[in-house]
Amino acid sequence: MKEKIDELLRDVTKIPAMSNVVVKVMELVRNPGVSIQMLANEISKDPAITASIIKMSNSAYYRASKPIRTVQEALMTLGTQVVKEIVVVSASKGVLHKDLKGYQIEADEMWSHSLVVAELSQRIVELKKIPKIPEDLAFTSGLLHDIGKVILTQFFPYKIIEIRDELKNMNDTFVNLEKKHFGYNHQEVGLKVMQTWNFPDELKEVVEHHHEPQYATKFPVLASVVHIANTIAIISGIGIDIGGINQELSQFALDKTHINDSDLEKLYMDIPDIQKEISGLHHS
Ligand SMILES: [Fe+2]
Repeated sequence: MKEKIDELLRDVTKIPAMSNVVVKVMELVRNPGVSIQMLANEISKDPAITASIIKMSNSAYYRASKPIRTVQEALMTLGTQVVKEIVVVSASKGVLHKDLKGYQIEADEMWSHSLVVAELSQRIVELKKIPKIPEDLAFTSGLLHDIGKVILTQFFPYKIIEIRDELKNMNDTFVNLEKKHFGYNHQEVGLKVMQTWNFPDELKEVVEHHHEPQYATKFPVLASVVHIANTIAIISGIGIDIGGINQELSQFALDKTHINDSDLEKLYMDIPDIQKEISGLHHS
């Protein structure tokens, strides 16, 4: 199995492509002086993203007052931050939410999990006023943290079902079972994919260390934020680790983010609201 995965990861043509436009747009919006024209030019290089921006800008979720026909109009009406969020979500959706014959529930669950963790990560940064982590970076990190699991689910859906069944009967973690069945856990697979895509170090570190944020060397706070968001989502039953009661909330992460019991309670209470909010993104 390990050889199969090595082969898959060696062959970049097999790894789903993430549009270069995503990294470019993320960089551009960091600069407060970026012009709408510049952003529109960059986004327009990717026809699939352009189409989803126009579609999503017109969806009920964003409630635009008049019909939006171009990327430029979307940027002027919704603002650069909102459009950037749409770019990240729609490009990620192309990779994270594949149609899987016979395994559609798994694909849908992974996508919901990714969106909930993204939204929770953003809310944690906002709630704790965490310095030096822009909310949109927290969102994107949460959205992509399980990219390795998404890839494993897409290529080996039957194996993932086996792991889920084993998880119900055994006192083990999802991550250990992945290692046993695939030879790699999803953090290792995710890191390799991020390297192939040339993604920024912050995202690589979150993908690699979201289960054990204490090993993050460069961005331990960001890894902690996503770790907490992920754990809350799993304990709330959103994600394919259900039954994985061995998912523990890291004390290191709580210390790093200064999250206390009442913060946790608030975040758990936010879940229904988050689910309502993302249903707009989910179905468009
Ligand atoms: Fe994970």
